[in-house]
Amino acid sequence: MSDPRGWIDKMDGQKTVILGVTGCIAAYRAADIAGALKKNGIAVHVVMTKNAQKFITPRTLEAISQNPVTCDLFERDKPWEVGHVSLAKAADAVLIAPCTANILGKIAHGIADDMLTTTVMATKAPIIIAPAMNTRMYENPIVQQNIEKLESMGCRFVGPVSGRLACGDVGLGHIADTDDIAKAVLSVLDVKKDLAGLKILVTAGPTCEPIDPVRYIANRSSGKMGYAIAQAALERGGEVILVSGPVHIPPPRGARMVSVETAEQMRDAVLGEYENADIVIMAAAVADFMPESADGSKIKKADTGLEIKLKKTPDILIELGKRKKNQILIGFAAETDNLEEYAKQKLIDKNLDMVAANDVSLPGAGFGCDTNIVTCFLKNGEKIALDLAPKIKIAHSILDQAARLRGNV
Ligand code: PMT
Repeated sequence: MSDPRGWIDKMDGQKTVILGVTGCIAAYRAADIAGALKKNGIAVHVVMTKNAQKFITPRTLEAISQNPVTCDLFERDKPWEVGHVSLAKAADAVLIAPCTANILGKIAHGIADDMLTTTVMATKAPIIIAPAMNTRMYENPIVQQNIEKLESMGCRFVGPVSGRLACGDVGLGHIADTDDIAKAVLSVLDVKKDLAGLKILVTAGPTCEPIDPVRYIANRSSGKMGYAIAQAALERGGEVILVSGPVHIPPPRGARMVSVETAEQMRDAVLGEYENADIVIMAAAVADFMPESADGSKIKKADTGLEIKLKKTPDILIELGKRKKNQILIGFAAETDNLEEYAKQKLIDKNLDMVAANDVSLPGAGFGCDTNIVTCFLKNGEKIALDLAPKIKIAHSILDQAARLRGNV
């Protein structure tokens, strides 16, 4: 054991993982998982909930991790240190394996009432969760909503998988294989910090152009693509400003949020941040038209129907292209046909370094879904196809190109 009195003690360059263990039958697997991480040269610090200790003893995990196991929020071996903050700061990643429905719910709702949940609340490190519970609990819409919420905030999930559960049921809810959990942790630890010190300005979501106080013109953008780019940029060490239209997903942890409604508001917010930005990625679906004038009071229904005169919104990207100095400027193109032709035209017209084009008529691509299919057209003529993949993966590939364009590889 390295330092029975200290919170954290590790070799130079060694990665630290906080392994959170929660109370369910699968808690015994924490020993195996801690061992697999150790084998990969990772310093493991285990934090156990009270219920976890009913299934496996701290002593076992101490022997395997070769570090003191923390169970109590008020344990004060080093009275000048705040334990959960020290652990949270030292973590390169936090892994919760197994994670119960209860702890999932607490984290998703910001409840921090023990050593594990306070550590999770205080960390800026990536969080990986390996759920384990009965199938009925796993399928409960509340649990599913919590998982969705945590996923959209950037938490990674491994499993669960199907198998025979402790209660004898067979179904989804079994903790993932140790190898898969270790691989997920290693892939998170491997993420390069190539955007450290850079300011990344990202736009996301739709804009809503008011017709009257209750109605507006908008589009189908959920914000998922832009939020994934913001999340990926944060993971790579960037300082992220996320200018977002109205969406229903939580912001990525660590991004500076600027919330807007209309294209004009988005324009003002983006121009306000543009000068100091190093990389700008316009994933927002800015409305192309707005009502010529918005009515001050609700328009009454008329049998004759209603005609609304529309005018063009400001084209933010064109304006950014005109003012471009050292920024890497990346736009999106949402098309339903002639993808290549229209995307290349936008690259030229908007003075971009790259355009990420998606055919929004393809299944699994574009608006609302968790995946995308993108072709990147670079101003040097290169064309890079990104096959169907989760938006977070597409986001990393787009950032690979942005970093390359900036010469940061
Ligand atoms: O949000 P999701 O549900 O995850 O969906 C993702 C997405 C489909 C919205 C995203 O992948 C995408 O394609 N975003 C750009 C949508 C769009 O407005 O495309 P466009 O081809 O109409 O515009 C081209 C570029 O000009 C875009 O970068 C856009 O942000 C920008 N633009 C457009 C109009 C305008 N008035 N000002 C702009 O800056």
